[in-house]
Amino acid sequence: MNVNILLVACVVSGILGACQGGQLRKNFYKNTCPSAEEIVRNVTWNHVSSNPNLPAKLLRMHFHDCFVRGCDGSVLLNSTANNTAEKDAAPNLSLAGFNVIDDIKENLENKCPGIVSCADILALAARDSVSFQFKRSLWKVLTGRRDGTISRTREALINIPPPVFNFTQLKQSFASKNLTVHDLVVLSGSHTIGVGHCPTFSNRLYNFTGKGDQDPSLNATYAAFLKTKCPSLNDTTTTVEMDPGSSLKFDTGYYATLKQQKGLFQSDAALLTNKGAANIVQELGDNDKFFTEFAQSMVRMGAIEVLTGTSGEIRSKCWAVNSN
Ligand code: HEM
Ligand SMILES: *[C@@H]1O[C@H](CO)[C@@H](O)[C@H](O)[C@H]1NC(C)=O
Ligand SMILES: *[C@@H]1O[C@H](CO)[C@@H](O)[C@H](O)[C@H]1NC(C)=O
Ligand SMILES: *[C@@H]1O[C@H](CO)[C@@H](O)[C@H](O)[C@H]1NC(C)=O
Ligand SMILES: *[C@@H]1O[C@H](CO)[C@@H](O)[C@H](O)[C@H]1NC(C)=O
Ligand SMILES: *[C@@H]1O[C@H](CO)[C@@H](O)[C@H](O)[C@H]1NC(C)=O
Ligand SMILES: *[C@@H]1O[C@H](CO)[C@@H](O)[C@H](O)[C@H]1NC(C)=O
Ligand SMILES: *[C@@H]1O[C@H](CO)[C@@H](O)[C@H](O)[C@H]1NC(C)=O
Ligand SMILES: *[C@@H]1O[C@H](CO)[C@@H](O)[C@H](O)[C@H]1NC(C)=O
Ligand SMILES: *[C@@H]1O[C@H](CO)[C@@H](O)[C@H](O)[C@H]1NC(C)=O
Repeated sequence: MNVNILLVACVVSGILGACQGGQLRKNFYKNTCPSAEEIVRNVTWNHVSSNPNLPAKLLRMHFHDCFVRGCDGSVLLNSTANNTAEKDAAPNLSLAGFNVIDDIKENLENKCPGIVSCADILALAARDSVSFQFKRSLWKVLTGRRDGTISRTREALINIPPPVFNFTQLKQSFASKNLTVHDLVVLSGSHTIGVGHCPTFSNRLYNFTGKGDQDPSLNATYAAFLKTKCPSLNDTTTTVEMDPGSSLKFDTGYYATLKQQKGLFQSDAALLTNKGAANIVQELGDNDKFFTEFAQSMVRMGAIEVLTGTSGEIRSKCWAVNSN
């Protein structure tokens, strides 16, 4: 009987989205560390106020965390003598902001030691950093994640979709995390902030099919500009804004960029190669729609394969597992 009531409650409230996060819940630290979320926000905002590139770094870091072994803070772990960690895998190009997570963790350990997980810190810091320019929270973050103890470079290579993926491959990658095509198009909107390094798209400029050609789906005017930024396939240091002229502003610019055939990666352009996805691209040009949908998809991404209850641990330092 009790089980049935619970089931019914979950199904009913599930319609309202309350069961999306599984075991996660709103304000998990309310009793154990009441100021936790405020501390995360304050420390994050302090850092962002002097480094406007940080929101892109932390948002991408959260994505990489969630797509490898779930949102368990495994992306934060450093390599050891015996193990090469996720953060040292090739897709880490420009992963950054680890020092911010460490700073937040230190503040939290001073206030309430051993309570707040690194996985939750990352989820909150990603939200708060992106929200800084609005001075309000753009999406809700359910909490109660616990930290994993394993981080393997090989798993990052398998699970992080590369920028050359076509639509079918992207759809499959997201489906393997129980995310839909809708989530794919919405979350790709993250590329409204931040930059990409030349090697992540230069193949589209110089040798697309191995005949010294250019990707025909890339705006030719824009391709000419990109060639001036990345003069050869060799350039590994230069970066280019993904949403030209508006790469610090979290807005719907990404979708406008896509429609002008200026999506930087093949994975961006790929969203126009499927009818359903292209329709979603059209819809998300609307500001209110994008912010609403983004908030919902982030909650779903933030719930991927989370460790809760007594699984995993609460790390005392985010870059290493507890030694016991
Ligand atoms: C759909 C599949 C995706 C692919 C193939 C992809 C690929 C990439 C690549 C290649 C970069 C450039 C990295 C560099 O050169 O430094 C990048 C940057 C970025 N990605 Fe994605 N991404 C995807 C989805 C996502 C999602 C779901 C999010 C967040 C929810 C995200 C957030 C970001 C952000 C914020 C940056 C900018 C980072 C910076 O400025 O340093 N991406 N992405
Ligand atoms: C967070 O920052 C606000 C504004 O600066 C301050 O009033 C508040 O005391 C800070 N909270 C914590 C927990 O540090
Ligand atoms: C852990 O790795 C980060 C970069 O990923 C580095 O900045 C930091 O110094 C490392 N920490 C330790 C204690 O080795
Ligand atoms: C690394 O591997 C060696 C030999 O297998 C082992 O003795 C050592 O305890 C391991 N170190 C860690 C940190 O796991
Ligand atoms: C990224 O990985 C490379 C090795 O592939 C490593 O040298 C570098 O320190 C890593 N970057 C970060 C930020 O961890
Ligand atoms: C996408 O890429 C896969 C793997 O390379 C390939 O088999 C498939 O035909 C491609 N799909 C489309 C629609 O191009
Ligand atoms: C996706 O959902 C299925 C069925 O609920 C579940 O067994 C699986 O673990 C989920 N996968 C991920 C990555 O969340
Ligand atoms: C372009 O690709 C072809 C086929 O992979 C290769 O033979 C050629 O060397 C490449 N050209 C350049 C400039 O990298
Ligand atoms: C690319 O780099 C290699 C060696 O690093 C160099 O020999 C070659 O000239 C470079 N190619 C271009 C087009 O700059
Ligand atoms: C390509 O870019 C140019 C210059 O920004 C723009 O005027 C044009 O409309 C774009 N082409 C398409 C197909 O959107």
